[in-house]
Amino acid sequence: MTGKSLAIVVLAAGQGTRMKSRLPKVLHPIGGRPLVGHVLRTAQNLGAEHIEVVVRHERDTVVAALTHEHPEAIIVDQDDIPGTGRAVQVAIEALPADFDGDVLVLSGDVPLLEAQTLQRLIDEHRRAQAAATILSAKLNDPTGYGRIIRDASGGVARIVEQKDASAEEAAVNEINAGVYVFRAAQLRHHLARVDQNNAQGEVYLTSVIELLRRANEPVAAEVADDEVAAFGVNDRVQLAEAGRILNQRIVQRWQREGVTVVDPATTWIDDTAVLAPDATILPNTQILRASVVGPGATIGPDTTLVDCEVGEDATVRRTDANLAVIGARATVGPFTYLRPGTILGADGKIGAYVETKNAEIGEGSKVPHLSYVGDATIGKNVNLGAGTITANYDDVHKHRTSVGDEAHTGSHTVLVAPVSIGDGAKTGAGAVIRKDVPAGALALSVSPQRNIDGWVEKNRAGTGAAQAASRARSAE
Ligand code: UD1
Ligand code: CA
Repeated sequence: MTGKSLAIVVLAAGQGTRMKSRLPKVLHPIGGRPLVGHVLRTAQNLGAEHIEVVVRHERDTVVAALTHEHPEAIIVDQDDIPGTGRAVQVAIEALPADFDGDVLVLSGDVPLLEAQTLQRLIDEHRRAQAAATILSAKLNDPTGYGRIIRDASGGVARIVEQKDASAEEAAVNEINAGVYVFRAAQLRHHLARVDQNNAQGEVYLTSVIELLRRANEPVAAEVADDEVAAFGVNDRVQLAEAGRILNQRIVQRWQREGVTVVDPATTWIDDTAVLAPDATILPNTQILRASVVGPGATIGPDTTLVDCEVGEDATVRRTDANLAVIGARATVGPFTYLRPGTILGADGKIGAYVETKNAEIGEGSKVPHLSYVGDATIGKNVNLGAGTITANYDDVHKHRTSVGDEAHTGSHTVLVAPVSIGDGAKTGAGAVIRKDVPAGALALSVSPQRNIDGWVEKNRAGTGAAQAASRARSAE
């Protein structure tokens, strides 16, 4: 950073009408953060003295999200005069009156800009001693953006908005990215003179450019190397496109860090997730929020992890998991649903068609098939037989189940909580366990089997079963 001071103004007061949404546009997420969150994160890397965010539409909701992303940001309220120019004006008024550095203006809906692009813009602005430097981009399809109109000598003359552009102006493919550096004094002076004389009846920030040029102030436009930098989100088609581009960046970042991603197009990794080298991500997998994937782990195919922690060399396939911790070398899936509070120990297994919630399952323990385990503490090296169910809810309260180390439950055991099974104990197939089982005991709750001969032929005469039975009996 050169000696000159910098203030950053992030514009986030607009409604985002074209989103047709209850949620303010700048709060729509991509990569696990709101659009404006990405802009703020980039802004934080530029060593600015002040970072301001201008808000108005759904002010409190936006402020709550901003405080989460960047608690030190200064919130500035726009009044009922509309337009990007007015937004910047209130932001300047909120700066110390003697601030005479540079003002970098960013849009809350331009989320893909990177800090080095902005740093280059600021450096170039200072080197050229410009009053304003605009970040521009050349697009094949400039529809919707303001166009950079250059004069005969190639200098910037003004910016014209799509809605105010003549056919000839609309054909220009150099667009305004909505990102600018201004010298504070000149910006303050000329913004006060911008009118609302345009198709949208707003105070356009872009009108300042023409005023600066008329006052013979030097104005430059720097064309971005990467046209993606300028990508603005105004509707949901653009939201999805921005999300796709961001995801591609995130996936490539992890690939370069040693993660195998078999199908980048169907792998979605939030900006907030962390992966270790030699992790393998199979197709159709989402690794979201604060998820952490350990070295050598394999995730997917068809898996969603939200705020999960997966240990070294673990395997998680065809699983939906939220706030779960999966130990080293453990295996999960296929068709498994891990709900919040699931903690699976090292070398453990949660298998097919199993749902778990608030369940701590110890090292080496297995819940291999068709079970529900909720509000439970399961010891080490336990085997819960196929179809073991914790009946944790009595319509009023949730109760806990505990199962000691090395215990085994028979297939189709129902553990009616609160109940505990001692270390090394066993339950018989189909047992309904309502009383605690002491360590080492075998618990049976099903009465001995009785065969009532001829029952089917007597009570179900004429059915296929009765016919089959009588054929078998006459052949005896
Ligand atoms: C704006 C630019 C356009 C540029 C494009 C780049 C103007 C007049 N036009 O158009 O030249 O090509 O961005 O993406 O500046 N906002 C406020 N207060 C307001 C209005 C808007 O804070 O009163 C904020 C919005 O929340 C948004 C940003 O300013 O984050 C841009 O507003 P938007 O309405 O999206 O402007 P564009 O039409 O995209
Ligand atoms: Ca926009």
